[in-house]
Amino acid sequence: MNRQPQDTPTRPLRIAVLVSGSGSNLQALIDACEQGELPNVELALVVSNRADAQGLQRALKHKLPALYLPWKPREEAERRLIALLDVFQIDLIVLAGWLRLFSADFVCRYPQRIINLHPALLPDDGSSKTYTTSDGTQIPALRGLHVVQQALDAGLKVTGSTVHYVVPEVDAGPVLLRAEVPILPGDTEETLHERIKHEEHRLIVEAVKMLV
Ligand code: GRF
Repeated sequence: MNRQPQDTPTRPLRIAVLVSGSGSNLQALIDACEQGELPNVELALVVSNRADAQGLQRALKHKLPALYLPWKPREEAERRLIALLDVFQIDLIVLAGWLRLFSADFVCRYPQRIINLHPALLPDDGSSKTYTTSDGTQIPALRGLHVVQQALDAGLKVTGSTVHYVVPEVDAGPVLLRAEVPILPGDTEETLHERIKHEEHRLIVEAVKMLV
């Protein structure tokens, strides 16, 4: 990796976006780049652990290099990914709906160069089990998978999304940005996740802007 995010720009910040599914957040980044909202950014590589990820199709449609990287065994997959990140001279890795865990070795290789979008509110203190919302309510810090459903199951009034740096502990890294999303009566996992994603599309572009 060549350029440190936030260095004086000598060339565009080269980003790799890792996706496992629909890739709507990747699309938000593509749109922002195409509309000139991220002038010093190049979406240089899109990688998916799933051959059928819609995110790959989105990337190809916009003529971005897009690769399927099988994730088993993980050690070999990480070795291949490291080689790819090198060849494509990637400065920043954006996990946008990436559903695989990295080894601590992999994460430590790229300090403050991997950011993740998480569909729940995470506290500044990565070890804290609670998050205090803007109205002072303490809610559980939901980490891991299926956190949209967990927010509903816990009867929360508010959840949201967090962009944070990736550290070896899951969903525990320093927070860059977050947005609160109210939970409405009658919300299902699907309706709530859609509203969270709507916020995420703005959030991920803002987060990248902070790092250019
Ligand atoms: C987002 O909600 C993100 O927070 C989570 O996975 C979802 C990805 O959505 N990690 P998409 O694939 O970008 O549509």
